[in-house]
Parts: sequence; structure tokens; C-alpha cells
Amino acid sequence: MKKLLIASSVVWLASTGILAQASDKATTDRYNKSCIACHASGAAGAPVTGNAKHWAPRMEKGMDALVASVDKGMNAMPPKGMCYDCSAEDFKALIVHMATPK
Ligand code: HEC
Repeated sequence: MKKLLIASSVVWLASTGILAQASDKATTDRYNKSCIACHASGAAGAPVTGNAKHWAPRMEKGMDALVASVDKGMNAMPPKGMCYDCSAEDFKALIVHMATPK
């Protein structure tokens, strides 16, 4: 039982991006401040960070379309994904960070 608990909390940590190593620190910090609120859990239908299945159909739209969605907001996602000082370049790095399979 204890082992199961440990295993499931590791999975949880991985899914929140805390164990993510691929991205630079500034991107990780921005992610942890804003996008994580919805994209770690998939709240309100948000594509889950590190879930290739969720991200494949999004990435097909192309990076510029995805950046525009974040900038303007999309359904349950507020404009700028709650990162009000993020630039388009920051959003690109965040999208790559979130779409990279873990
Ligand atoms: C309040 C919750 C919330 C936050 C915060 C949030 N998102 Fe989202 N995001 C969503 C939801 C919900 C969707 C799915 C929208 C839909 O398809 O209806 C989504 C979709 C997306 C998409 C796909 C857009 C598309 O055109 O398919 C991208 C890219 C994205 N988010 C990036 C980000 C980034 C980058 C951040 C942080 C700066 C962020 N999100 C913060 C809720 C959020």
C-alpha cells in the first residue's frame, strides 16, 4: 500500500511538471506561475502537459495559431493564459514545454 502511494505521488509530480528537466528555468518559472493551474490537471478540458495524445491535434494547427489562441484566450482559457508579462516568444517556449512528451 505504501509503495503504491509513493508510486502514485511520483506520477503526480511528473504530471505537474515539477520533474520536468527539458526546459530552461525562466520557462519553467512562467509555467509554474500561470499555465500549471489548468494544464497540469487538464481542468476544463485543457490539454495536459506532457500528454502527446492531447497535444498532437493542437500542434497540427501550427505554432502561430497556438500562440494566437493563448494571446486572445480560448473558451475556458483566459487571455494570455494568465501570464500577463509573457511575450509571443515566451508563449512559444511554454507551448513546446507543455507539448513535449514526458
Ligand atoms: C484558467 C485555465 C488555463 C490557464 C491558466 C492556461 N490555460 Fe491554456 N488552455 C486552457 C483550456 C481549458 C484549453 C482548451 C481550450 C479549448 O480547446 O476549448 C487550453 C488550451 C491551450 C492551448 C491550445 C490552443 C489551441 O488553439 O488549441 C494552448 C497552446 C495553451 N492552452 C497554452 C497555455 C499557456 C502557454 C498558458 C500559460 C501562459 C496557459 N495555456 C494557461 C486553460 C488554461
